[in-house]
Amino acid sequence: MLRQTRLRPVPGLEEIRLHLADEVLPLWHAVQIETGDPDAALPYWAFAWGGGLAIAHHLRENPDVVAGRRVFDLASGSGLCAIAAMRAGAASVTATDIDRFALAAIELNARANRGRIAIVGRDVLDDPPPDVDVVLAGDCSYEARLAARVLPWLQRARARGIDVLVGDPGRRYLPLDALEELAAYEVRTTTELEDLEYKVGHVYAVRAGAARNET
Ligand SMILES: C[S@@+](CC[C@H](N)C(=O)[O-])C[C@H]1O[C@@H](n2cnc3c(N)ncnc32)[C@H](O)[C@@H]1O
Repeated sequence: MLRQTRLRPVPGLEEIRLHLADEVLPLWHAVQIETGDPDAALPYWAFAWGGGLAIAHHLRENPDVVAGRRVFDLASGSGLCAIAAMRAGAASVTATDIDRFALAAIELNARANRGRIAIVGRDVLDDPPPDVDVVLAGDCSYEARLAARVLPWLQRARARGIDVLVGDPGRRYLPLDALEELAAYEVRTTTELEDLEYKVGHVYAVRAGAARNET
C-alpha cells in the first residue's frame, strides 16, 4: 500500500506530514486485491478529509483545547486529528478506527511526525466513552448508519464531562440540531473525493443535555 502513497505535507497544515494518495481508485483496487474483498472499504486513511482538516486547523489555532489533556480521536483514518492533537501538546493521544489499513497508516504517520499515538483497532461505539478529557470526531457523518451510531456515543461522552469536537465539511448526515458551531476554516481537500478542491470545514461542539443510554 505504501507504493500507492507518498509521505508529504498536508496542504494548509505543512507542519503535519502524512502518507497520502493522489488517486483513490488504483489504491482501492490494490486494497480489494490484498484483502480478496471486492466490497473492501474505500482507503479513507490515504486522504486528509475536510472534517479532520477543520479540527487540525482548530487545534493549531487553539492548542489550549488539548494541551496537557488526554485526547481520543474517533474514526481516525490517517491519524490526522490525533497528530494535530499531539502537536498541540496533548498529554496522551489515542486513535481508533475499524479499518486495519488505517491502523497501519496511523502508526506510520505518527512515527513520521515524531509522536506516539496509542491505537485501538476495534469498534468502540457500543462501549462507554473512554476515560479521556477530549474526544475528536473528524468527518464521521458521510454515511447514515455511522452517523446514527456516532451521535449518541458523542452525547454520552459529553454528558460525562468530556469536551467533544466534531469536524465536518457539510456532509448530508451531520446532526446539526445537536451541535453548536465553534469555528470554520477554508480547507484544501482533493477533487478525487469532493466536488471542489477547497471546502469550508466547520468545527462544532456537541450540545450538552441530550444523552441517551447513559452509563
Ligand atoms: C471520512 S474518514 C475520516 C478520517 C479522519 N478523521 C479525517 O477526517 O481525515 C472516516 C473514517 O471512519 C472510519 N470508521 C468507520 N466506521 C467506524 C467505526 N465504527 N469506528 C471507528 N472508525 C470508523 C473509517 O474507517 C474511516 O477511516
